[in-house]
Amino acid sequence: MTVAMGAEAAAPEADLVSVVYDPLVAAARRRYVTGRGHRAMTDPAARPEVLDRFLIEFCAQGVHMTRPVDDWITRAGARCIELGMGELGAALQRHAVHEAGHHSMMIDDTRMLVAAWNQDGRRPLDADELLARDPSPGVQQYVELHERTIDSANPWGQLAIEYEIELLSITSGPVLIGNVAAVCGADRVQSLSFLTDHIAVDEGHTVFNRRQLNQVLAERPALAVPLAAAGSAALDAHARFIDDCAEVATT
Ligand SMILES: [Fe+2]
Ligand SMILES: [Fe+2]
Repeated sequence: MTVAMGAEAAAPEADLVSVVYDPLVAAARRRYVTGRGHRAMTDPAARPEVLDRFLIEFCAQGVHMTRPVDDWITRAGARCIELGMGELGAALQRHAVHEAGHHSMMIDDTRMLVAAWNQDGRRPLDADELLARDPSPGVQQYVELHERTIDSANPWGQLAIEYEIELLSITSGPVLIGNVAAVCGADRVQSLSFLTDHIAVDEGHTVFNRRQLNQVLAERPALAVPLAAAGSAALDAHARFIDDCAEVATT
């Protein structure tokens, strides 16, 4: 019996991300959703005051993680071009433009959340003071990972970092927003412009990142290992940031 050649030719292009990359980051993705902070903040039994304080911390500290994003991607793109991955480098630099200025949403959200917090008669908070603090340990880990990746022999790791973090916007993001609406009320969601905006735009960014990852893996399959290492490190650093925020909210 023969197999029709036409059927073979019509088969969809192999999704290398699923085959060689996803299995290598599966453990870090599992660690992320089972992390202490993530579990506590997506728990329907969370107290409204705790979840509100977590959101304030998430936005105030998150400024340190979102302000440099376009610069990180631009520099990683330049390094990719330098090391002979011109197409990826150019694609990263095109994507960078779409990330510029997003930290301003986190600043606005911090101010709105703090205003609502103070209006509710809780122990008063000062948005300017919260925004002026140094980065938490998890934020520092996240920033250092980017700088290390850009300077390394594998600057394409930036693509995997972007992929994992933007994927969080469409996986964990809706779960967190759903819990905020249920625990703190639908009104609170109005003060979360960064999260709600990213649940929407990161769907397209994730498709873009996945396409780029597939292209890189088609050209150089061995890069699955350093790519997955960078993606996993990003998830661990972000999980630590979430733990930091949850700790402030519960102490
Ligand atoms: Fe963004
Ligand atoms: Fe994005």
